Amino acid sequence: MTKVRGDIYRAQRAYFERAYETGEHGWPTDGVSPMVARFLRTFRGRDRRVLDIGCGEGRHTRAFAGAGALAVGVDLEPKALARARVSVDRGSVRGLGFVQADVFALPFAPKTFDVVLDYGCLHHVRRRDTGRYLEQVVPLLKPEGSFLLSCFSTKFKHHAGERRTRDWLVHRGHYDRFFRRADFDAMFGYEFDILEVTEDRDGLYVFHNVLMRKRKGGKGHRAASGRTIGPATR
Ligand SMILES: C[S@@+](CC[C@H](N)C(=O)[O-])C[C@H]1O[C@@H](n2cnc3c(N)ncnc32)[C@H](O)[C@@H]1O
Repeated sequence: MTKVRGDIYRAQRAYFERAYETGEHGWPTDGVSPMVARFLRTFRGRDRRVLDIGCGEGRHTRAFAGAGALAVGVDLEPKALARARVSVDRGSVRGLGFVQADVFALPFAPKTFDVVLDYGCLHHVRRRDTGRYLEQVVPLLKPEGSFLLSCFSTKFKHHAGERRTRDWLVHRGHYDRFFRRADFDAMFGYEFDILEVTEDRDGLYVFHNVLMRKRKGGKGHRAASGRTIGPATR
């Protein structure tokens, strides 16, 4: 485990900048997750708006645009977006856009999106900032919209023999959080029906893939701060 002085998010930005500079990071640049592949089998993209949070090089954003949706990817890291925009510049996929934005300050109106996808961003959000994340992300989804979330399971290991005494760590200058099944009920149960949770292993890497549907007239999510975020407060 690495010790980082000062602001972990500042260190984390430097980590992602380096990752996209070198292209030598551990996550795929093409293809889609098994959950996204399953979802796309029955997805009709026409007139649908999709938001891909922490889109990286845009592999999932491209896949949704390829299925006919208007898909926008947001990421904090300009070097990731420069790589993602190559496919826009080629003009090979229509309905595709990328915006530089922080998940804590998303520049969209409430109820804009039919689908929100987060593959690998939430697990870089400190536990104490979960409420801030939810306050930004949840209102953007329309009632009955789908939320596809992929994040580290507590069974995830960076290397064989890794031992952890808690559900987060700071690793090579960035924050990683590891999730249990019950965390999704606690975080999303107020506002979403949780339709499917799978735990998928690829070697040492174990992810939770969670498919949720936002309830019509949900009760509102109780943020980490204790404040209820619901229709009355939006
Ligand atoms: C593990 S990568 C996943 C990339 C992409 N979703 C994929 O499936 O290939 C996590 C991404 O989240 C982005 N990210 C981390 N913190 C963020 C924040 N606060 N706001 C926006 N994006 C963020 C990183 O820049 C990085 O591109």
